Amino acid sequence: MTTVKTAGNIYLEGNFSPVDSEVTAFDLEVIGEIPAELEGRYLRNGPNPVTVASPEQHHWFAGPGMVHGVRLRDGKAEWYRNRWVRSQNVRAALGEGVSGDQPHASPNTNIARWAGLTLALVEAGGVPVRMSEDLDTLGESGFSGTLPGAFSAHPKFDPVTREWHAMCYSWAQWLDHIQYVVVGPDGRVSKTLDIPLPGMVMVHDMSLTRRYAVVYDLPVTVDVELVAVGRFPFRWNPAYTPRIGLLPRSSADAADIIWCELDPCYAYHPMNAYDAEDGTVVIDICRYDRMFDRDILGPAGDCLPSLYRWTVDPVRRTVRQQQLDDRAMEFPRVASSVSTLQHRFGYGAGLAAGFSPGDVYKHDLQQGSVAVHTLGAGRGSAEPDFVQREDARSEDDGWLMSYVYDGTTDRSELVILDARDMSVPPVARILLPQRVPFGFHGNWLSDHDRPA
Ligand SMILES: [Fe+2]
Repeated sequence: MTTVKTAGNIYLEGNFSPVDSEVTAFDLEVIGEIPAELEGRYLRNGPNPVTVASPEQHHWFAGPGMVHGVRLRDGKAEWYRNRWVRSQNVRAALGEGVSGDQPHASPNTNIARWAGLTLALVEAGGVPVRMSEDLDTLGESGFSGTLPGAFSAHPKFDPVTREWHAMCYSWAQWLDHIQYVVVGPDGRVSKTLDIPLPGMVMVHDMSLTRRYAVVYDLPVTVDVELVAVGRFPFRWNPAYTPRIGLLPRSSADAADIIWCELDPCYAYHPMNAYDAEDGTVVIDICRYDRMFDRDILGPAGDCLPSLYRWTVDPVRRTVRQQQLDDRAMEFPRVASSVSTLQHRFGYGAGLAAGFSPGDVYKHDLQQGSVAVHTLGAGRGSAEPDFVQREDARSEDDGWLMSYVYDGTTDRSELVILDARDMSVPPVARILLPQRVPFGFHGNWLSDHDRPA
């Protein structure tokens, strides 16, 4: 059991605060009907500190990962489990035995399946950690020894080649470059390319089109003064020139990257990107004006993000920024079948002041419209993962799956929406025995081995 003091730090208060125990519950109560086609696990990762040494300095992105999972089968919610991703430090903090072959770090950002493995993922130097069907920690996974160093929390799936593409960094080890990594469907790294950068940038995500791997070289960099006192190292750097890099996917030379400068901003998550017929690259992305400027403990204190379209012209080396919707939104997703291709629909979680999650949004980029699924007072959605129906007749023919926190009951649910119609009640609400703290990324891991 743990007790975390908040010291006025909003990232330790309310539903940002960690849960202090691991729960296993069977035969969960369901309101509605779980589609029989959904056989598998919905998993989501996020930071959940066991202890916090300095609450006033605690950064939301710090702390070991905890995975919250629900298993669905035969129209039933068989179980809920939450489990720490057990690194050596987590085990020590929990009073468990520690040995050198256990994971050195506890990935806290994403969880996905690749080549039959369930992998907890993080950026900034950590390697993936394998989790069991029941969310026990199995050990580190460097893709059968083929990963040279760091990996990413946001590998991009290519539905044509069925590869994973990732921009990886390790600010404490690689002082002057990041590394582009491609992992094949056999679970082995098939390509790496070092990309020199002028600074130690927080490269949270990337984009992938049919022609390019896209590098986000944006002005949030390591601050050595924060490093010196052992704090989360990244902050806004107004002296750093923001750029987007277009690396031709076939290139084996970082000098081939087409760099295009843009006005200062930051982004964690692109919704999707694709090559337009006129040769430009279209990127729909959740854009912030600033990051870690006034607030160096998390993303809430500077500004909220909204959906933009960036049109990158590789000939003129320009980036045109166009706001698509002025509502605050994060955690954008598209159907994995349209990853790298032109998408019509994108989904995301609305945000209110303090980075408080809100309703579920469905953007129709073709019509220029937004449909909202209203969750009700005090309720807010985490990242909505789109799961396409097996015999889908349209891009949006499927479900949105998300953990919804209800502040009026201090509990959470796994909510399944019909993505075709955001105005109707959820297909199913699966009531969980405890709350799921606000965290990061989740995926539906089908038993039928669709890509996560
Ligand atoms: Fe992320």
